[in-house]
Amino acid sequence: MRRNLIDILDLSVEEIDELCAKAEDIYHNPEKYTDVCHGKIMGALFFEPSTRTRLSFTSAMMSLGGNVLGFSSAASSSVSKGETVSDTVRMVSAYSDIIVMRHPKEGAPIVAKMSSRVPIINAGDGGHYHPTQTLTDLMTIRRRHGRFDGLTIGVLGDLKYGRTVHSLVGAMSRYKNIKFVFISPDELKVPQHILNLYKEKISYIETENLEDVIGDLDILYMTRIQKERFSDLLQYERLKDSYELTREKLKNAKADMSVMHPLPRVTEINTDVDDDPRAAYFEEAECGRYIRMALILKLLADKTSDMPLEGETVTGKICGNPRCITSCERGIKHLIHNGRCIYCDRKID
Ligand code: NCD
Repeated sequence: MRRNLIDILDLSVEEIDELCAKAEDIYHNPEKYTDVCHGKIMGALFFEPSTRTRLSFTSAMMSLGGNVLGFSSAASSSVSKGETVSDTVRMVSAYSDIIVMRHPKEGAPIVAKMSSRVPIINAGDGGHYHPTQTLTDLMTIRRRHGRFDGLTIGVLGDLKYGRTVHSLVGAMSRYKNIKFVFISPDELKVPQHILNLYKEKISYIETENLEDVIGDLDILYMTRIQKERFSDLLQYERLKDSYELTREKLKNAKADMSVMHPLPRVTEINTDVDDDPRAAYFEEAECGRYIRMALILKLLADKTSDMPLEGETVTGKICGNPRCITSCERGIKHLIHNGRCIYCDRKID
């Protein structure tokens, strides 16, 4: 029996509270935790570039007294020889006690959990989800605002391909009186298949203009335009400079608003914002180390299993999404649950 973290909804709100509280305890009393993972090994399988996520997970496991093995690019693994995700994970789960994985295809961590003997943590699957960034975001929100209910959250930038956005919306959909203000160019709005999952639980408006709404926000969650996900680079060039937050624009924002960003930033936040007390993004990155320590401890200790899917799962229909892991992984079963591909959440007719 083991637990995995593929989607932020794999954790209950009570578990998220416990993780945030544990992360704060670790932050304030690191000496209590220096040896608690002695002899444990974390496999870090990064098929896609990463700085913060990979290094904060590595730092987290080392700070708990454990060890780390793995790779930081697909090119340096046997994937470059044509090995499947399933075979890679099957092997690495024999060499480690927990696996953190980032992959460019949506749903790849679900394939991983099917062939793993140890817990799988999704560290980002294509433009789909990024649940551990969301834990980092939630810890930052809890620190700065002391609550999750009743917040007005502006989410700006690439809401189409931004996986951190999709996981954040899912997480916040479980709290009371959340208002989302989605700020993006028309081409980069939150995809319908993501909205369909949460639209009954959240209230939201969509706009292209930050200046019109900045004064209403408790949180402004900025994101980078995700260059690597564009099939049309001319479209990227046209959209890449859509927004720039400056100190001047912050004049109209609430005094206690938080400016968040999963980082890396490109041009969407001017460095003149960094010294403003509302700039929360470096603190957010720091939280990543402590919340990931709490998560590793939880998943290594948790001997329950994942929550079962409700309803019937069928095979036979094919997911046609080229960004889905089903488009490239050999030997994979196409599984449809409640009319959606279980890997990428796309509706299948
Ligand atoms: C994000 C990601 O990888 O999705 N970065 C991160 O993990 N902190 C955001 C991004 O790359 O824009």
